[in-house]
Amino acid sequence: MMPTQSSIPGVDALWPLCLDIVGQRRGSVAPQQRDARSPLAWDPSQGFALRGVWDDGAVELFELLKPVLDRPRGGRPWLIGQLGQSLDGCVATHGGDSNYVNGPEVLVHLHRLRALCDAVIVGAGTAAIDNPQLTTRHVAGSHPVRVLLDPELSLPSTLRAFTDGQAPTLLVSDASRAAEAEERVGADRVLGVPGLTGAEGVLDLHALTAALEAHGLRVLFVEGGGVTVSRFIAQGCLDRLHLSIAPVIIGAGRPGLQLPRSAAMRDCMRPSGRIFRMGADVLWDLDLRAVQPAAPRG
Ligand SMILES: NC(=O)c1ccc[n+]([C@@H]2O[C@H](COP(=O)([O-])OP(=O)(O)OC[C@H]3O[C@@H](n4cnc5c(N)ncnc54)[C@H](OP(=O)(O)O)[C@@H]3O)[C@@H](O)[C@H]2O)c1
Repeated sequence: MMPTQSSIPGVDALWPLCLDIVGQRRGSVAPQQRDARSPLAWDPSQGFALRGVWDDGAVELFELLKPVLDRPRGGRPWLIGQLGQSLDGCVATHGGDSNYVNGPEVLVHLHRLRALCDAVIVGAGTAAIDNPQLTTRHVAGSHPVRVLLDPELSLPSTLRAFTDGQAPTLLVSDASRAAEAEERVGADRVLGVPGLTGAEGVLDLHALTAALEAHGLRVLFVEGGGVTVSRFIAQGCLDRLHLSIAPVIIGAGRPGLQLPRSAAMRDCMRPSGRIFRMGADVLWDLDLRAVQPAAPRG
């Protein structure tokens, strides 16, 4: 019998399956060949696949999330970044207002990525200006650990991430300033990273990733802002980037990606990508692994 339109499963049926995959990953349960009746198949070389008939929304969401669900098991940590930007490449106005560059579909997508990752990382600029909660309140799923990168220790302890009790929060500083950081927010909320701040204040993001991995945080979501996501890309730390472009022109706002200059077009990064419609916005899912500057991995 042909399924009726109303009996075809959609996003509401798919999303709990995605959360199950994440739950098993956190419990260190390796993906297994699944029962033929399971709505998700798994194969070591192909990753997860949908079985049976699903509606278009579920098929598209599964395709979008598949790299996150499939990301290599074991081995090194896996990082995905995101930026929501205007047609002219800004992530906020000059004064820092970014509510909202993108439409509601992208906001829900951000919360889905938070739910699929172990930790969400933001720069001090974003933490100071947005005072974000960094929770999954628009979707089902557990909140990630909130990681605020603050090598200069400029963030006040009154930020919501330190006071709302909704999820664990880690303030990241260089290990040499950890005691100072602990005085501000308490020892259990400080991650002092040895060698985080190198010569001329350059942050060693591989050192950060290794320190988070030591805390059991291996699937990492770098949510912004432009400076922070750019630094992760410049150091070859990101596996994927979700760039959501909204049909808005901000004009002289806070820039999105800012990377070292290229001499010629042939030298520019040209990652392979897929596009997804998100309401009025267009999301680029970019595979950065093959095009990033080679960087040593600890
Ligand atoms: N559209 C989006 O997807 C999206 C996502 C996240 C954030 N945002 C917006 O992006 C803006 C922030 O991004 P960003 O690229 O400027 O910074 P960021 O990547 O969040 O943080 C790093 C930058 O913030 C500076 N910073 C450090 N402490 C600060 C403080 N207390 N107050 C202000 N800045 C501080 C740092 O300066 P030093 O290097 O000198 O320490 C560094 O340049 C905000 O307006 C936020 O609303 C947009």
